Amino acid sequence: MIPRLKGTDDILPPQSERWRRLLRAFDDLAERYGYDLALMPAIESTELFSRGVGETTEVVEKQMYTFEDRGGRSVTLRPEFTAGIVRSYIESGGQGIVKLAAAGPQFRYEQPQKGRRRQFFQVDLEYLGESAPGADVEVIEFSYRLLEMVGVSGIGLRLNSIGDSADRVAYRNLLQEYLRQRQSDLSEDARRRIDSNPLRVLDSKADTEVVRDAPVPLDHLGPEAAQHFSRARSALDGLGIPYEIDPRLVRGLDYYNRTVFEFYSSSFEAAQSSLGGGGRYDPLAELIGSRHPVPAVGVAMGCDRIVHAMPGVAEHRLDLYVAVADHDLTPQATEWVSRLRQRGFKIDWDASASRSVKAQFKAANRCGAAAVAIVGSEWSRGLVSLKVLETGEERQVSVEEVEEWMKQR
Ligand code: HAM
Repeated sequence: MIPRLKGTDDILPPQSERWRRLLRAFDDLAERYGYDLALMPAIESTELFSRGVGETTEVVEKQMYTFEDRGGRSVTLRPEFTAGIVRSYIESGGQGIVKLAAAGPQFRYEQPQKGRRRQFFQVDLEYLGESAPGADVEVIEFSYRLLEMVGVSGIGLRLNSIGDSADRVAYRNLLQEYLRQRQSDLSEDARRRIDSNPLRVLDSKADTEVVRDAPVPLDHLGPEAAQHFSRARSALDGLGIPYEIDPRLVRGLDYYNRTVFEFYSSSFEAAQSSLGGGGRYDPLAELIGSRHPVPAVGVAMGCDRIVHAMPGVAEHRLDLYVAVADHDLTPQATEWVSRLRQRGFKIDWDASASRSVKAQFKAANRCGAAAVAIVGSEWSRGLVSLKVLETGEERQVSVEEVEEWMKQR
């Protein structure tokens, strides 16, 4: 027996039913909001991430699955979608507005625990080529609606602005100065970051004491970033999307500017509790080789965490299970099942048509059917026996009535 690798999962029934609902909801919503489908490579040049995500980030420093391929190139299993999607935008000409939706596994070498996996699944939106705050609001609203649609309760949204790169020069000096003064109270990780990536110290869980009094980017926004943030906020207010300002939210990836955000839920509490996050990342395209700036904003939602916060299945998975009482009626039952499926009903049956009716009822219960229709001696008169599993009620009805019943359920 060769077991699966640590931090990876086999997602099988019954859990996979939630996944199906989540992925379907994402797909529906992406289409409704005008995002086209993007299917991206799972493997990219290592340099794409070291330059795009940032040399000094936790992801690049410690978590990437990087190896040399047989041609001697350094390649990396994608730890996220954004850098690859921006690469594809530049590579295909990089013009105008492009809105893309992607879904797939990501890879980060983490210490595995609930909701923190080495292979995990993201659904992702990228809104490329638009600098207006309306784009930030759209991806935030989308994420909120997605969580709502799949039944996540107690949805929370943390929002912040970290300003533009130019505003950050002055702010960075100020923060470094403050952190140096408090150096002796800082964790070793934070001390190391003072020079390389001081902003990241703001969300260091080990340094909350020091961080509490640190200057925050929100108090040092340039006029344009400040106006952008205030417009985004009023649009969110107008849409009735509740949020809280978290001035210490900085995110773990280096490409962001202006708006950043994270979603959480009171029904999923873990050390790593954000169900999704994102923000504006105007600097990214030029970091990875674009000759002109590409304003953009996006979000990635973590499916492995969202499914923990989703309610179980209330509804029946199948509209009907067709049981065959008389083996000779197998051809007729085959055709009826096919007809019902083509009309859009969710139907299953015992394709071998050889088990006892009792065994077929067991199967119907196991796969969550709402009712069982028994094809038997009355079939020649157009009748079947319909048993509603929830109530136990059973009656002879015509095949047309079965359809009517399923429609009205
Ligand atoms: P991120 O915050 O690194 O952002 O990841 C987004 C979400 O992916 C997290 O909020 C979490 O739900 C999930 N996630 C991350 N790591 C793990 C893990 N090890 N196990 C399970 N779930 C995980 C990004 O990836 C950015 N690319 C988001 C973005 C898109 N920004 C702009 N566009």
